[in-house]
Amino acid sequence: MTQNKHNDKYSDLSHLPEEYLELDQTLKAAFSILEIASKNRHTLFHTPTLSTFDGNRVSTRTMVLREFDPDKRLIRFHTDFRSVKIEQLKKDSHAAIHGYDPNLKIQIRFDGKINLHHNDEVTKGSWELSKEMSKECYFVGGPPGTRINDPSGFDPSTFDFESTNGFENFCVLVFQFESMEFLYLKKSGHRRAIHNWTTGEHQSSWLIP
Ligand SMILES: Cc1cc2nc3c(=O)[nH]c(=O)nc-3n(C[C@H](O)[C@H](O)[C@H](O)COP(=O)(O)O)c2cc1C
Repeated sequence: MTQNKHNDKYSDLSHLPEEYLELDQTLKAAFSILEIASKNRHTLFHTPTLSTFDGNRVSTRTMVLREFDPDKRLIRFHTDFRSVKIEQLKKDSHAAIHGYDPNLKIQIRFDGKINLHHNDEVTKGSWELSKEMSKECYFVGGPPGTRINDPSGFDPSTFDFESTNGFENFCVLVFQFESMEFLYLKKSGHRRAIHNWTTGEHQSSWLIP
């Protein structure tokens, strides 16, 4: 039986098991969810939350998952180089990603570090692959999060595509995870598992939910 037979948008995920009997199933399921989420904007893991730390406080925001590479354990995000999170990441590269999908009853948490890319080959590659609509927001006339009196003065219709260099403001965040935690909620018994790569080797264990 599949979990998502009622939801066409989730048909890609219909292969997920009803029961998790082996640790390896939790890894495969999590990786499959993330791979599909990077391509399918209808899945909830397409917009996970990313948390960063400035040495004093934690902040969390929704981000679009642009790419998931299970072999290198990488997750790619795009953002504005002028945004607050960049200042935080320059101070401390540690970050965490979280997502929960009630359709799947699965929560996934990642812990790791972020490499910032700005004005380099990685950013060029991602910029070229981005849709025009996605590129547009990097032409906004000031750092995101700046206090303003009138938001209409910063609508897309005001963007200066001639004199602003959107690419200069474009930044790629490459998150590499050291651990991944999987939680599956089920009435008959929740299943929680941790997968860790801190030693270079993959280690995993069940956890008390
Ligand atoms: C559905 C959704 C998708 C978003 N995707 C992104 C994104 O891909 N990149 C990004 O920088 N901000 C994205 N945002 C906005 C962020 O949540 C956040 O407000 C912004 O990046 C500023 O964060 P900061 O001030 O902590 O740097 C998204 C917000 C929502 C609601």
